[in-house]
Order: sequence, then structure tokens, then C-alpha cells
Amino acid sequence: MKLVKWLLLIGAAAMLAGVAFIYTGIYPMGADVPHNRMTYWLLETLRERSIARASAAIPVPDLSSPELLLSGGPDYNHMCAQCHLKPGVNKSDLSIGLYPAPPNLSLAQDDHGHAHAGDNTVSAQRQFWIIKHGIKASGMPAWGPTHDDQRIWAMVAFIQKLPTLTPEQYQILTARAAANTTHH
Ligand code: HEC
Repeated sequence: MKLVKWLLLIGAAAMLAGVAFIYTGIYPMGADVPHNRMTYWLLETLRERSIARASAAIPVPDLSSPELLLSGGPDYNHMCAQCHLKPGVNKSDLSIGLYPAPPNLSLAQDDHGHAHAGDNTVSAQRQFWIIKHGIKASGMPAWGPTHDDQRIWAMVAFIQKLPTLTPEQYQILTARAAANTTHH
């Protein structure tokens, strides 16, 4: 019984210390100072568990159709490339200045070994969900409020091909369809 009392006391003291720490204001909030390992782990695990759960049941359409790829290209170039880069461009003011940093989607993997490419269902579900809903407290906006699912799937199809494109192929895929999109 005594042990339980002590454990409760220690728990309450730890909680108070945590709240006191928050109120001191000493945690660095600037985007130019990285999180410590514990905060990083906490936020990354929270994000990945939440997205995995929310995206698990999303049905994935056939992403191999050329039309999808061609309509996703110009959208990507217009709305995403300034943060997520493109073949032959490995940094921008936004890719350097944002924290968390936007991953370079023109590479098959980021520095942490997260795969961005691959045509498996789970990566497509995850990318679709992230593009549609965005990610809280990061620079990643939700595109769902302004774009329908079809357009978001087109960007997923394009992102899956992106790491295999040369700068010239990127240019062609995003420019050719850009001429078509001037109609709407
Ligand atoms: C203003 C910058 C910005 C723009 C514009 C932006 N993103 Fe992001 N995006 C981010 C950031 C930052 C993250 C990482 C968030 C995190 O780590 O919590 C991210 C994450 C992602 C991810 C998850 C990557 C992974 O595998 O972990 C995908 C997919 C993505 N964005 C797609 C897009 C697409 C498609 C567009 C354009 C429609 C877009 N983003 C526009 C900043 C941006």
C-alpha cells in the first residue's frame, strides 16, 4: 500500500514538473532549432500512427493510367515543387527553411530511409491521405478543401513516378499538360 502511495506521489510530481516546464517558456520554438530526440520521436510516432490508422481503408484506384500521370504533373509543378523539389533541383528557400523539412519527393528515399516511391497500396493510401488532409503544425497544407479526389489521385500517380524521371522527362510531363490546364 505504501509503495502505491509513493508511486502516485512521484507520478503527480512528474506531471507538475512537466506543466511547470511548459510554462517556463524555455522550450525553443523557432524553426531553425531542431526538436530534441524525445519531442521528435513523440511527434513522429503520433503522426505516423495517426495517418496509418486514418488511411488504412482508402480504396486505391488504378494509378498506372497515362492520363492520370499527365494531369498530376502540372499540378505537382505548380503547387508542390517549391517545397518538395524536382529532378535536378535539390534545395529551395522553403525546403531549407521549413521545420519539419519537406521531404525531397524526387528521391526514392529521404535521409531517414522513408520510402516515397514504390507502387504498393500502403504508400499510395498514405500519400493520398496526407495530400488531402495535410499535416498539423507543419508546412504541409490540406489540398482536399480545394481539390477533388480525382485530382489528388493524379498527384499520387505522379509522385510515384517522380523519382524515376530525369530533369528533361519532368519538364515534358509537366509542360505538355500545362498547356491543357490553361483551359480551366
Ligand atoms: C509550403 C510547403 C509545402 C507545400 C507547398 C506542399 N508540401 Fe507536402 N509536405 C510539406 C512538409 C513540411 C511535409 C512534412 C511534414 C512532416 O514531416 O510532418 C510534407 C509532407 C508531404 C508528404 C509526405 C511525405 C512522406 O513520405 O513523408 C507528401 C506525400 C506530400 N507532402 C505531398 C505534397 C503534394 C502532392 C503537394 C502539392 C499539392 C505538397 N505536398 C505541397 C510541405 C509542403
